[in-house]
Amino acid sequence: MVAQSTNSLPPEKVPQHVAMIMDGNGRWALQRGLPRLAGHKAGTENLRRIIRASVEFGVKYLTIYAFSTENWGRPPEEVQGLMFILQDVIDRELNELNREGVQLRHIGRLERLDPRIQKKVLKAIELTKNNTRLVVNVAFNYGGRDEIVCAIQKIINDGVAADAVTDELVNHYLFTAGVPDPDLIIRTSGELRVSNFLIWQAAYSEWYITPTYWPDFDKEEYRRALESFGNRDRRFGKVSSAELQENNA
Ligand code: IPE
Ligand code: IPE
Ligand code: MG
Repeated sequence: MVAQSTNSLPPEKVPQHVAMIMDGNGRWALQRGLPRLAGHKAGTENLRRIIRASVEFGVKYLTIYAFSTENWGRPPEEVQGLMFILQDVIDRELNELNREGVQLRHIGRLERLDPRIQKKVLKAIELTKNNTRLVVNVAFNYGGRDEIVCAIQKIINDGVAADAVTDELVNHYLFTAGVPDPDLIIRTSGELRVSNFLIWQAAYSEWYITPTYWPDFDKEEYRRALESFGNRDRRFGKVSSAELQENNA
């Protein structure tokens, strides 16, 4: 496969699921004396490159944080602009992404978006539902707390008994049901916070935080993030297997 030959990453070290907090569009624009929306447009262009790079690197799930439940608090022109950008991206990119084998999913409260946007998102999900090369979860109108509240409401509505509530059951009620937890979360623009992203699912995710603003986060830096991930010792609260072997030798 071409993807393997251009990819120096050992396949067994590539994270199965990468999640990205695409932050810094506004500051990227400010730095250039441009309006914030120009930063969001540049960010969208970059997203296209990062999706293609994910396919090439052999990542199986990519979750992107595009609009949070708190982002409604921004000036109305910016909110409207971001709503327009989502629709425009679907219009322009859907067929190409479908041809490339990308399956699109949405996480967040779809029902609180404009009906025209809902229709477009549902169409994109339906068209790509059988694709298997890369699953892209678009977190739009997503909040981690909102997701947990929504799950609790559904669990209660379904009449689930208290002692039947387990980790697995909660997973099943989240927007991300059926998707493995993110192995690696990348945050651009240097902020050292979670900003309500995948707060349940990130329990044991590795983090890569870079000062680079999202529109400038390119394939080479993505590769470096994956390399960094490949060198981590994930212990999940246990003792590393290498250390155990040393002690037993
Ligand atoms: C991230 O960029 C995109 C969204 C939140 C929609 P920002 O718009 O947050 O950019 P900064 O953080 O203001 O630079
Ligand atoms: C997180 O970025 C949300 C998205 C990238 C969509 P924000 O810019 O909204 O986060 P804060 O406000 O800096 O925490
Ligand atoms: Mg920001």
